[in-house]
Amino acid sequence: MKHPGLFITLEGIDGTGKSTQIRGLVRYLRECRHRVCVTREPGGTPAGERIRGILLATSTGKLAPLAELALMYAARAQHLAEVVRPALARGEIVVSDRYNDASMAYQGYGRGLGTADVRAFDRLVCGRTQPDLTIILDLDPGRALARAQGRETRRKSRRGRFEAQSLEFHQRVRAGYLAIARSAPGRAKVVRADQPVGEVQTAIRKLVDECLARHMKSIPKRG
Ligand code: TYD
Repeated sequence: MKHPGLFITLEGIDGTGKSTQIRGLVRYLRECRHRVCVTREPGGTPAGERIRGILLATSTGKLAPLAELALMYAARAQHLAEVVRPALARGEIVVSDRYNDASMAYQGYGRGLGTADVRAFDRLVCGRTQPDLTIILDLDPGRALARAQGRETRRKSRRGRFEAQSLEFHQRVRAGYLAIARSAPGRAKVVRADQPVGEVQTAIRKLVDECLARHMKSIPKRG
């Protein structure tokens, strides 16, 4: 049987403003008295955060693309077991900052592993726990990387493992996300991220409201 909750994922290349938009969406859902579980990948659990540490700290040449994919799915298996499936079973709205489409876009397309290996991991690890709605924030990689790099400079931190990748890498990742949107138009929705923050948020809330309306019978509210 399908889980009683609702599973929403947000995706996009680095620097599309995903974190800001997630904060706004979660505030909105809580104002509407929904029970929300907000989480992220890679990570979301103590073991997953340690895997995230390995992924973000190992320089690209030192990690085989298939090892990178396997680590993403190892963190995901733990995240599903510990966080996502229990929250969905309790009837909550799970909002995840990235999920399995990130592996397809970054490892399948970006690293060039192709779709078959990613699908094989996905069948094994995620199975039927697929998002009800995926919002893909889309932005030209040149602009997105400039934003992401500005953020790193403000934090005085080194560029992250993925943000340090070439423009061509991010172009492949973006193409991957757009291919996912074309292949799953009912679930995966593209929102242009080159608009003011408030307009992006309005577009996201509209998509979430539509999805909630379709699932309304099964989503319990608090109190
Ligand atoms: P994210 O937390 O979105 O980055 P930030 O710390 O900048 O907010 O994600 C970390 C990186 O991991 C991001 O560049 C995308 C990458 N990633 C993959 O390559 N494959 C995956 O399956 C996931 C979930 C993330």
